[in-house]
Amino acid sequence: MSALVTEGPAGSSAPHAAPATPEADDPAFRSGAFGHARALSCRECGHEVELGPHYACPECFGPLEVAYDFPTVTREQISSGPPNIWRYQPLLPVPADIAESPNTEPGFTRLLRADNLARELGLESLWVKDDSTNPTNSFKDRVVACALSAARELGAKVFACPSTGNLANAVAAAGARAGIKTVVFIPSDLERPKQVNSAVYTENLVAVNGTYDDVNRLASEIAGEEDGWAFVNVNVRPFYAEGSKTLGFEIAEQLGWRLPDQIVIPVASGSQLTKVDKAFRELIELGLVEEKPYRVYGAQATGCSPVSIAYKTQAPTIRPVKPDTIAKSLAIGNPADGIYVLDICRRSGGAVEDVTDHQIREGILLLARTEGIFTETAGGTTVACLKKLAESGVLDPTKETVVINTGMGLKTLDAVGDTVGPAATIDPSYAAFTATGIAES
Ligand SMILES: Cc1ncc(COP(=O)(O)O)c(C=O)c1O
Ligand SMILES: [Zn+2]
Repeated sequence: MSALVTEGPAGSSAPHAAPATPEADDPAFRSGAFGHARALSCRECGHEVELGPHYACPECFGPLEVAYDFPTVTREQISSGPPNIWRYQPLLPVPADIAESPNTEPGFTRLLRADNLARELGLESLWVKDDSTNPTNSFKDRVVACALSAARELGAKVFACPSTGNLANAVAAAGARAGIKTVVFIPSDLERPKQVNSAVYTENLVAVNGTYDDVNRLASEIAGEEDGWAFVNVNVRPFYAEGSKTLGFEIAEQLGWRLPDQIVIPVASGSQLTKVDKAFRELIELGLVEEKPYRVYGAQATGCSPVSIAYKTQAPTIRPVKPDTIAKSLAIGNPADGIYVLDICRRSGGAVEDVTDHQIREGILLLARTEGIFTETAGGTTVACLKKLAESGVLDPTKETVVINTGMGLKTLDAVGDTVGPAATIDPSYAAFTATGIAES
């Protein structure tokens, strides 16, 4: 099928670019290809277009998102499903037989009580949603699994993405498992472990001399030129983005079918934060959780904080920045969903915060030493923002709080590699060990 032809200008705000135009002779999709999804709906004007490789509204160029006709869904039905994101199949744009096609089966990661970290920060009730244990060690496996389903149903021949690192890992691995050609594009200055974590799965890792925003522009251009390419976060972005809802679904289910009072989420493009909020709203709409107010907080690195700057200056729009931070996975200077993040955080009574590279390193060590979880720089950013929000009183210490760890520390070893290491290097003798004083400390 040649539906995957994408027109339109490049840019990190790709959803605002011109829409894809399916050709007239396209065969129809198989029945139920997108589950209970009804259409793609414009987030700006509400105009609906048919399901397909479209990402921008033909009326106003606003971004499209998936709209559904949900069936009745019960807690029991979900609980008896597989221990991965497909337990939420009726709430995702994927077919009923999704579990039968090869995929990495991400999700249903641990929700851990974080009493040590809570005590350290003066919070009464804190949970860590630990997404570092996904198949390629970040939450991106969730979104990629949904994008892969869409790519398959649309007949794509190439599975591709521009990435700040983790997405490339997830696309390369999922494509290998599905037996589809993958091409992944990254900024050339990315951490070595993230490069290797893609290159082991694909021969087509392309390192681009430029920022992520340059890589994203290039990807949009290629999507417009090449036939049959599914760029997960460009021309199948509406389907891809829905995968992040599963983080919200799981948190609610693992809390015993209720919503937390406060949640802290890292922000790069902003897609994840907006979809966790969408998940909470859908659970309320479906009667799967009780309606209640919840506050959403966004976390950014000061070296790339366009959304936090807009929040703090009460600006109506996001002004793009040039990233300069160790949190490379969050280094998107022109975030496509930034404006929606602002809206959600303001509307819910939350906030957007940012922290320095030094605080990010401290955040990584804080989570590791209080809860035994080694996070990457994105998680260091989130934990450090949680700390800052708790210290400033912006976060209510008496309310139940969830913080999302989206990635794995082994991918960004350099961030703390110079700070930690052996306490002593000794000869293999008891005398040498006792001389270190470690036994008494
Ligand atoms: C580990 C990690 N956390 C968070 C994010 C932010 O995701 P989003 O672009 O949906 O805001 C990314 C994005 O690449 C990431 O790699
Ligand atoms: Zn519109």
